[in-house]
Amino acid sequence: MTASSAQIIDGNALAAQLRGDVARRTTALKDRGLTPGLAVVLVGDNQASQVYVRNKVKACTDAGLHSVLEKYEATMTEAELLARVDALNNDPGIHGILVQLPLPAHIDAHKVIEAISPAKDVDGFHVASAGALMVGQPGFWPCTPYGCMKMLESIGYNLRGKHAVVIGRSNIVGKPMAMMLLQQNATVTICHSATPDLKAMTLQADVIVAAVGKRNVLTADMVKPGAVVIDVGMNRDDAGKLCGDVDFAGVSQVAGHITPVPGGVGPMTITMLLVNTLEAAERDAAQRGLA
Ligand code: GUN
Repeated sequence: MTASSAQIIDGNALAAQLRGDVARRTTALKDRGLTPGLAVVLVGDNQASQVYVRNKVKACTDAGLHSVLEKYEATMTEAELLARVDALNNDPGIHGILVQLPLPAHIDAHKVIEAISPAKDVDGFHVASAGALMVGQPGFWPCTPYGCMKMLESIGYNLRGKHAVVIGRSNIVGKPMAMMLLQQNATVTICHSATPDLKAMTLQADVIVAAVGKRNVLTADMVKPGAVVIDVGMNRDDAGKLCGDVDFAGVSQVAGHITPVPGGVGPMTITMLLVNTLEAAERDAAQRGLA
């Protein structure tokens, strides 16, 4: 008997398609006199953050959005950063504000995020954004789980009545992911480091989202044949190669659909940041009577 092979959900292809939509809507908005703008604020010299913010700004420019990168020394005070956020809140040319995390230890990240106007919170990290997602009101959804939902949508997957298992309970991925799946009428289980028998849970799942940040959290023996597997992990293997949380070689022999790493969820995260920024600008245009 030959092992079956899962269909790959191509994050690069889907991201390219969605970025094309963003570019078209951006042109339409510009024609009405409004250019969507994103401000990315980076404090300190975290190497990974430097790469992330560069990619975010480039993605904006490529899609025709305006973006500004504000870089500050690690010695910037919390009060100074709060003053910058306040200025950006009041800047009519800026529709989205992203303060790159992590922040230096002397700055209270929660306080800074709460200072961002919820109308410009394109990261979806503000308590008001989390609350809006929880109660099903309009707001901004965190980009990574939002991207995962778009991947499920791209294969025409109907979550109603399905069992979704989310591995990981972070505020940025696991918890909002669970809320989004629930909103689509899935039965949702959130597993985490204190879950005694992870395999017993994942074997029941029609959809598995792995968002832990550790290699081989999900192996072939833990997956029901035909399940959809979304891998949010970004890790390095022993050879230094980028890999996810899922044992791709093994799980792809059992799953029905699977997202690869790289080329899966990764490209979707920045894409959804563009979508959120454009959405913020479109709401602004509607308020100004430009729509
Ligand atoms: N650091 C790592 N990922 C992210 C992200 O998506 N947004 C922000 N603001 N900081 C991050």
